[in-house]
Amino acid sequence: MSQLPKALQGLSLPVIASPLFIISNPQMVIAQCKAGVVGSMPALNARPAAQLEDWLAEITETLAAHDRAHPDQPAAPFAINQIVHKSNDRLEHDMEVCARYRVPIVITSLGAREDVNQAVHSWGGVVLHDIINNKFAHKAVEKGADGLVAVAAGAGGHAGGKSPFALVQEIRQWFDGPLALSGAIASGGAVLAAQAMGADFGYIGSAFIATHEARASEEYKQAIVNGNSDDIVYSNLFTGVHGNYLAPSIRAAGLDPENLPESDPSKMNFGGASTKAWKDIWGCGQGIGTISAVTSVAERVAQLRSEYQAARTRLALG
Ligand SMILES: Cc1cc2nc3c(=O)[nH]c(=O)nc-3n(C[C@H](O)[C@H](O)[C@H](O)COP(=O)(O)O)c2cc1C
Repeated sequence: MSQLPKALQGLSLPVIASPLFIISNPQMVIAQCKAGVVGSMPALNARPAAQLEDWLAEITETLAAHDRAHPDQPAAPFAINQIVHKSNDRLEHDMEVCARYRVPIVITSLGAREDVNQAVHSWGGVVLHDIINNKFAHKAVEKGADGLVAVAAGAGGHAGGKSPFALVQEIRQWFDGPLALSGAIASGGAVLAAQAMGADFGYIGSAFIATHEARASEEYKQAIVNGNSDDIVYSNLFTGVHGNYLAPSIRAAGLDPENLPESDPSKMNFGGASTKAWKDIWGCGQGIGTISAVTSVAERVAQLRSEYQAARTRLALG
């Protein structure tokens, strides 16, 4: 395991709750941080852009009040996700708001930019960059990212195609900084497995969609409760980048999940035009077979923690 920056130490469980387009909101982030795992949300979820300021004020003030009331059990830090892609015309504005609130962790996706990393470092923040292969991992670290999120096969939303074993093994040949593993992690045992492989954190998205706090429809949450890996379809049709989606939502949109056409990559857009696609076509990872009920965020984290502890005991790790 790597030497972690202070912001990433002292979690109650080695888990980063991943940013979820449209779905993550301050209520969810606050619940995740209070439960002792890193909570996160995409800056783009705040709409209009001016709302980001209100959301960051709410998150920072609520977590500070929590820490004053529970000095023995402080909240975990939160992260804001920035889509560093040319179609995101809000990046400059959103970075400026993050600077004002000294956001402790920034997760960058779809592009690695030196100036963005330097800006985060200037206020003492930590940058984790999303990658799907070893080549992009090298690029991200060369450009100044502090840590990596290795997005393996089976992850919800935009996902890679690599085995998590291959990805973590390759990265750990040369990188000893903070490393989170993403893709179908939805149990405490899987979090421990990620650590055994060499990652520092499990990075969990879909399991948090089936929570009361998530801004997703009841149908979406129930589809996760009812579904398993057989219901997940990997396609680049909806945003131009390959990702995993729930088949029932593709059928409901009048498409055949088994015969989807390829998309045109020149139509990629992550700055807002894809909002409708993400509302109707539900992103989801392959790990949902373990999710049997819609619960609160606190209950989900408590269950992950008890499974994690049980896995440690089973392996006689204490
Ligand atoms: C509905 C949905 C929306 C997502 N939106 C984002 C996003 O806006 N930014 C991002 O970096 N990752 C996003 N992701 C990917 C997650 O950060 C993470 O890699 C993934 O959820 C982990 O796999 P899991 O869902 O199997 O746990 C999204 C995933 C899902 C399921």
